Amino acid sequence: MHLLWLAVPAVVVGLAYKFYSANEPEIHAPQSPSLYPFVVADLPGRGKGLVATRDIAQGELVLREPPLFLVPPSISEEPAPLIWRLLQMVSAPADREAFLNLSYVHFPEVLDPAAYPEEVALAIFQTNAVKAGDGVGIFPRMARINHGCSSAFNVVYTWREREHALFVHALKNIRKGQELLTTYTDTKRSRQERRSFLWQQYGFECACAVCSLHAAALQASDERLTRISRHYTYLATWGHGKINGVEAISTINKIWELEDEEGYWSERGRLAADGAWIAAAHSDAAAVRLWAQLAIKWYIIELGHGSDLIREVEQAAGYPEQHPAWGSREPTKIGRPPAGSLDGVLTTNHS
Ligand SMILES: *[C@@H]1O[C@H](CO)[C@@H](O)[C@H](O)[C@H]1NC(C)=O
Ligand SMILES: [Zn+2]
Repeated sequence: MHLLWLAVPAVVVGLAYKFYSANEPEIHAPQSPSLYPFVVADLPGRGKGLVATRDIAQGELVLREPPLFLVPPSISEEPAPLIWRLLQMVSAPADREAFLNLSYVHFPEVLDPAAYPEEVALAIFQTNAVKAGDGVGIFPRMARINHGCSSAFNVVYTWREREHALFVHALKNIRKGQELLTTYTDTKRSRQERRSFLWQQYGFECACAVCSLHAAALQASDERLTRISRHYTYLATWGHGKINGVEAISTINKIWELEDEEGYWSERGRLAADGAWIAAAHSDAAAVRLWAQLAIKWYIIELGHGSDLIREVEQAAGYPEQHPAWGSREPTKIGRPPAGSLDGVLTTNHS
């Protein structure tokens, strides 16, 4: 058995102005490459990247891509020949070429593809593979999206098992000409930690807008990001009964506020769904509804309509007492979502 990669987590993110039904179709779903709202461009000094060819609205689906191939979480053969074999099974020559065109990290030296085809294929795979369900997959278009930390990334991707495809949504409004950036790792840590991880894992020194901050602004960002992480760790202790529901919800609100200051909008659907979970555990139906609506609002941006997670929080918003966590802790009136966070959310059918 071989451990093939340090899988990149599919990050979830978001901000919406409107409450939609999860069954509403993806209006702007691009059907073919000619309709994508971006092009692959040469970026001076930074290789290739994706640049928006028009304004892209927050929550818009910018790319839906099936995998070139998927690899299960554990394999029983040598990785290099396996990846090479999977690549040979890709039928379209252009798809194989797209794979071989991707960049890779291989220490210490660059490999000659003619002499070491299998090793090169493995290095490309390890550098570009993305977590997809239980396994990992290769998505050559998505793989062209460069990395940005914290407030610098503006698109997020998520794997949908049912559609067997990776979905990339705009986390923020993106202007025509702006580069699409996603995140390759959890960037809720200081610049020094982010940079050393990215250097080791992906072979570049991050020079994103956040890593390029100076002096006081850099220090403030580092502090916010490490505090957010610490709050997350503290929040997790609610699961072991170490903190009560009121403390847990107030921790979520602190995270939310720090993220507003930082401009870090990732993982908010998940965070609000945790709020709904905690509210349900403490039998506060009104709070469950509010947190669940907040989760729906952000999940729609992060994951798009029709995601299974949205169905779960819709169920919670409609029927708090049927939530799986309902009544599992002492009944308490717990806190509400941050002021203003639910602005623009229309009343749901289930009120
Ligand atoms: C691979 O790269 C070459 C050189 O940049 C380019 O001309 C070609 O179109 C690329 N092929 C694919 C399938 O992306
Ligand atoms: Zn950075």
